[in-house]
Amino acid sequence: MRSLVEIIAAKRDGATNSPQDITRFVKGLTEGEVADYQMAAWLMAVYFRGLDDNETTALTHAMLHSGRVLDLSSVPGIKVDKHSTGGVGDKVSIALAPLVAACGVPVPMVSGRGLGHTGGTLDKLEAIPGFRTELPARDFARIVRDVGCCMIGQTAEIAPADKRIYALRDVTATVECIPLIVASILSKKLAEGIDALVLDVKVGRGAFMKDEARARALAQALVSVGTRAGKKVVGLLTDMESPLGAAVGNAIETREALDILAEAAPADVTECTLRLGEEMLVAGGIAAPGREARDKLGAAIANGTAARVAEKMIEAQGGDPRVVGDRSRLAIATEEIVIESKHGGFVARCDALAVGLASVALGAGRSRADQAVDHGVGIRLEKKPGDAVARGEPLARVFVRHRSKAAADVDRVREAFSVQDTPPPPRPLVLDRIVAANST
Ligand code: URA
Repeated sequence: MRSLVEIIAAKRDGATNSPQDITRFVKGLTEGEVADYQMAAWLMAVYFRGLDDNETTALTHAMLHSGRVLDLSSVPGIKVDKHSTGGVGDKVSIALAPLVAACGVPVPMVSGRGLGHTGGTLDKLEAIPGFRTELPARDFARIVRDVGCCMIGQTAEIAPADKRIYALRDVTATVECIPLIVASILSKKLAEGIDALVLDVKVGRGAFMKDEARARALAQALVSVGTRAGKKVVGLLTDMESPLGAAVGNAIETREALDILAEAAPADVTECTLRLGEEMLVAGGIAAPGREARDKLGAAIANGTAARVAEKMIEAQGGDPRVVGDRSRLAIATEEIVIESKHGGFVARCDALAVGLASVALGAGRSRADQAVDHGVGIRLEKKPGDAVARGEPLARVFVRHRSKAAADVDRVREAFSVQDTPPPPRPLVLDRIVAANST
């Protein structure tokens, strides 16, 4: 058996680590045999030398089995989840889970909190009065079975090795490493007891991956390793240059997510939801790609079944289901500051990163994991790239607690926009679809 030092040295020198060595390293970390500095040295070696798909699969597997894998065998059907790598204004999950469940595909969803400029689904859900995101595993399974979907936060039992390793990556400059990101994301997602996973890998200013080549490499690695783990996995690369939809914040985003189910949301966020929903219905084996999947999703929205599932899920999780029919029950801060355009023309850009950072600064997000968020503050974009705007017309509205304290954040939102004389070229929402080799 190789020593820990030999395993690190092999990776440092560009050799391949065996699955047994990788498992031993991860197990050793959680059981105290591997010191933090040894794991940190191995992570840095991986950062420079990479991991092939076999090694990444072994790492994912070891991290997944460092904790509990939820047992959803009592839930009939192919269970499908969606994971987004995160963006600004990405509230899709809140509409997508009940929509897909209403079509007959069970959706067990374990979501995250916002950190940095990207928001988190849990913070948005907790804007619903009474809604509980911490539920015991048996309640999670029961709600998925009875309602069709349930959305909770990660528990301490899910992939605990990821928490340890991520904390080390955070302080050793090894977060931006594709195989480590893949193992981190998939170890948590596979612990949900799913059969299939649809990935939304965001690309652009407001995304984790700013350039398309890196985002594509991440999507390909996620699809490949997820497929090797025995799951059906497909990824969409979607645009995150400007915020998705018009709402950025918590309650304001939950309102917009529920608007999707009432056919009252902006076109881009609705389209993103439907494209991902289409993939989930196909992965769930209940529709052929294209028209059939679209028609099922459209019918579930039009006949109100998706909204009814949303109400049932919210009720089952302790929340007030009346928010689905009356979105004004989701309280938004009452002080409103309007940002007017200084010029007439066309919006050329609305920088998602700048809007996301302004939203964090207003209090809607957090820069440290232990911070609380304000559910009521937020931003509504009145204009998006490509829209015509007259001089003096509103570009955005900022909802704040105290006008006097918000000036710098409002300036940041104003500076996120640029207006020019001619319309910018349209940007596609979905840049590509990534499937496993030998798949469709
Ligand atoms: N999200 C995760 O869950 N893990 C990473 O390493 C990066 C993003």
